[in-house]
Amino acid sequence: MSSLPDMTNASSPALRLLILGGTADANRLAAAVAREPLIDAVLSYAGRTENPRPPPIASRIGGFGGVTGLVNYLREHSIDRVVDATHPFAAQMSAHAVEACALAGVPLLALERAPWERQGGDRWIDVDDIDAAVASLAGAPRRVFLGIGRQNLAVFAAQPQHAYLVRLVDPPRETLPLPNVEIVVARGPFDRAGDLALLKRFGADLVVAKNAGGDAAVAKIEAARDLGLPVVMIRRPFVPERPVVDSVDQVMRWLAHDAAPTERGV
Ligand SMILES: NC(=O)c1ccc[n+]([C@@H]2O[C@H](COP(=O)([O-])OP(=O)(O)OC[C@H]3O[C@@H](n4cnc5c(N)ncnc54)[C@H](OP(=O)(O)O)[C@@H]3O)[C@@H](O)[C@H]2O)c1
Repeated sequence: MSSLPDMTNASSPALRLLILGGTADANRLAAAVAREPLIDAVLSYAGRTENPRPPPIASRIGGFGGVTGLVNYLREHSIDRVVDATHPFAAQMSAHAVEACALAGVPLLALERAPWERQGGDRWIDVDDIDAAVASLAGAPRRVFLGIGRQNLAVFAAQPQHAYLVRLVDPPRETLPLPNVEIVVARGPFDRAGDLALLKRFGADLVVAKNAGGDAAVAKIEAARDLGLPVVMIRRPFVPERPVVDSVDQVMRWLAHDAAPTERGV
């Protein structure tokens, strides 16, 4: 990991960092900052997962209450920096972070993996959003792996003719409105061999995925490639412009240097 040259003076006050989490990358960043005594960090969860892995740093759970709530939180907790390490599809939280950090004058950096790119052997059907993914399933019954998490499942009730396989971190709290569904409860990261076995066992002939990027959720894409299955690939939603890096090391370097509130292109 990178050293923190501006924070080696034991008399300097700790840097107060807010990490917006809910991803494997946020957990990796939390592990890295936990080793830095001059960073006082808190990891924020939305509260969607019932038993998140206990983080190695302080944590908080639940929404802030919109942009105003986040501005208040930043001020009340004297936050010096924010790292948005939310999922690329958590577009509302990311937009709020851009606006709140600008209002509070707190430097913001996003930790986000590049989207997956189509490779030889991939049979992707690119769609713009969840509704387009649902529409793309019109037609004869198929066996569909929905690898999109818990939210947005109900809309697939509009295509009830399919047999669905759904993988979730927690067992669903309510019955899913899908007449023919199998649920697998499992927590990532997932591996290619495991996802290959899962798709084969279910007899999947189609995969629906969000273009998350990174390695934590790519196994299903690789497994679909191995089996020659089509993937309905949902493009990322719009997020307002902000500085973005794609590795924990780059975040650590940013934390080690002064960042002006208006800093761009880190
Ligand atoms: N969307 C996905 O596909 C996906 C996949 C994997 C993990 N996740 C994780 O699940 C969480 C929720 O995702 P989402 O798509 O529901 O988000 P979202 O639609 O962008 O956010 C909805 C609201 O949830 C609250 N929120 C979201 N992330 C938060 C965080 N890290 N800490 C505190 N509050 C948070 C905020 O409430 P207030 O306005 O009240 O502040 C936000 O306005 C995120 O932490 C994300 O990283 C999402």
